[in-house]
Amino acid sequence: MKTTVSVIKADVGSMPGHVRAPQELLDVCGAVLEKGKKENILIDFHVARCGDDIDLIMTHTKGVNAEPVHKLAWDAFEEATAIAKKKKFYGAGQDLLAESFSGNVRGLGPGCAEFEIEERKSEPIVVFMMDKTEPASFNLPFYKMFADPFSTAGLVLDPSLHDGFTFRVLNVYTDEVAELKAPEELYDLLAIIGIKSKFCVESVAKKTGEPAGVISTNKLNLIAGKYVGKDDPVAIVRCQSGFPAVGEAMEAFAYPYLVAGWMRGSHNGPIMPVSVKDANPTRFDGPPRVTALGFQLNDGMLQGAVDMFADPSFDSVRAKANEIADYMRRHGPFQPHLLDEKDLEYTTLPAVLEKLKDRFK
Ligand code: F6R
Ligand code: MG
Ligand code: MG
Repeated sequence: MKTTVSVIKADVGSMPGHVRAPQELLDVCGAVLEKGKKENILIDFHVARCGDDIDLIMTHTKGVNAEPVHKLAWDAFEEATAIAKKKKFYGAGQDLLAESFSGNVRGLGPGCAEFEIEERKSEPIVVFMMDKTEPASFNLPFYKMFADPFSTAGLVLDPSLHDGFTFRVLNVYTDEVAELKAPEELYDLLAIIGIKSKFCVESVAKKTGEPAGVISTNKLNLIAGKYVGKDDPVAIVRCQSGFPAVGEAMEAFAYPYLVAGWMRGSHNGPIMPVSVKDANPTRFDGPPRVTALGFQLNDGMLQGAVDMFADPSFDSVRAKANEIADYMRRHGPFQPHLLDEKDLEYTTLPAVLEKLKDRFK
């Protein structure tokens, strides 16, 4: 039996402002997915959140881009939107860009990461969820997990990882994908994925083609043509026995590297790995957060979730993130705290710049 793991996420309302998705919205999503489970659309599900985003973690046997599964997620977000509107939560229905559902959620607003796998004898997975940032923020940790032997010891030590992995990299502007192999093409890979504003790791597989990790890559701001909130991404990673150990996947977040998306989607800031209860970005609407939930699959049943960053061994990373946040904030409206001009194109800044156009003589 093949199992599909689908994580579909959206921001359909939060409080106060963009801080956190209210519990009643998570509850109504849970009720819709429970119905889907009774109707045999899903095997199992877990409703999570990171900041103002709701993440629907679902398992089933219908493969990727399966209409009934995507429709179910859309229905859950629509029901949550109705409550968010009634309760005047902030940004109610924000990520549901289309009037109605058609086919699958890709291009309609919600983000989606999914893979279909043959479950191994034991199948540990970790779902990563980020808020106040963008899909390419997974470029660096995916490189570390699947290509950096200083982070993933198994690349050197374990014969079943020694062959390396294939990265699929998306050009978010042209929608074209390139496949690059690590370690053979490591320098080419890094030459591309370091340019986060343009190139985004979409998925990683073993050289045999077996899925290893996948990221939601839709650029919401490009879909909408104007700034409608950052397309906060999610990722799923398979672990152990031929894949990075759980601890090697987590080790990729042991340094609070800089990501784009803080305050008004216009600033760079450190990514802070936090437990689910601490995924409430309040300082300058941030700093950007990442949470992680660990599961053991059992014929599609999600056993867990273990709150992976609820571990004091990440305290020093959080302290460092706060230090970097202080340092970056002192730059105020100056780059490189402020994003590059090209990346500000879909924010609210161009309207201000337009007004000043004639002042330059
Ligand atoms: C939302 C985000 C926030 C908002 C900011 C302004 O995820 O990143 O920083 O961009 O709070 O929000 P509006 O324009 O809704 O007042
Ligand atoms: Mg919001
Ligand atoms: Mg968000």
